[in-house]
Amino acid sequence: MLRVDDNGERIPLTIADASIEKGTIVVVCHEVGKTTKKLGKLKAGDHIFDLLGPLGKPAEIENYGTVLCVGGGVMVAPLHFQARAFHEAGNNVIGVVGARTEGQLIFEKEMREICDELYVTTDDGTKGHKGLAFLKELLEKKKIDRVVVMGPIVTLKAVSELTRSKGIPTIVNLIPIMVDAMGMCGACRVTVGDQTMFACVDGPDFDGHQVDFEELMARLKMFTPQEKLAFVFHEEGE
Ligand SMILES: Cc1cc2nc3c(=O)[nH]c(=O)nc-3n(C[C@H](O)[C@H](O)[C@H](O)COP(=O)(O)OP(=O)(O)OC[C@H]3O[C@@H](n4cnc5c(N)ncnc54)[C@H](O)[C@@H]3O)c2cc1C
Ligand code: FES
Repeated sequence: MLRVDDNGERIPLTIADASIEKGTIVVVCHEVGKTTKKLGKLKAGDHIFDLLGPLGKPAEIENYGTVLCVGGGVMVAPLHFQARAFHEAGNNVIGVVGARTEGQLIFEKEMREICDELYVTTDDGTKGHKGLAFLKELLEKKKIDRVVVMGPIVTLKAVSELTRSKGIPTIVNLIPIMVDAMGMCGACRVTVGDQTMFACVDGPDFDGHQVDFEELMARLKMFTPQEKLAFVFHEEGE
């Protein structure tokens, strides 16, 4: 969780790389609204107001056999960090990286260096496969032991639906609205099976076959009018 300045809101970003030797972390941020735009305006050498983390449960990394790592949009960056860990744990790693269009694809090179096989998808077909339909065929052809998905909720849901009938364990990385990231405010509440969980402390990784994606999508839109207003005020100098 970070704050760009002392007036700002705290936003959650996922660690996309880290170096214990250098004492650094990497986060990759898509500028979508007021706070992420402010962050994007910072230059090398500038500082942010504060940073809290790492938070939540660490990703489960073991030798499962063949792990299919599927990522969409900005979340391909943290996916590459997990894909590397699966590779180092001895897994055969198959990667799928996607974006709306070719120009928005990120971390393809980094994923290619890690993965035993890599597939590229774009929603508009400008590069690689068009959409995720080809995944169905891939799941028929290959023996996959575990699937990990990071990206927009529609992607998490679509991949979980594809793997459900095959019984392939599918871990989805959830990014609901977060406020305190401490398990106290309830903003990140998600329903998983018959349980209410808080993604910030119980997650962010959950069993994709158990998550109530419809509820999650509805909750993500809760503050849309306020977010749009905050952005307009910010762009017009408050
Ligand atoms: C656990 C987690 C990890 C994330 N990791 C990344 C990442 O690595 N890279 C990245 O670019 N983005 C990531 N996000 C999303 C990022 O936090 C939001 O894009 C950001 O908070 C938007 O703030 P804003 O003021 O720029 O835009 P706003 O206009 O406030 O919001 C734009 C959209 O972002 C989402 N959002 C807004 N506030 C929050 C919030 N407090 N928590 C979660 N989502 C919010 C909403 O869906 C909203 O529609 C992550 C979110 C979560 C919960
Ligand atoms: S963000 Fe407050 S409980 Fe998770």
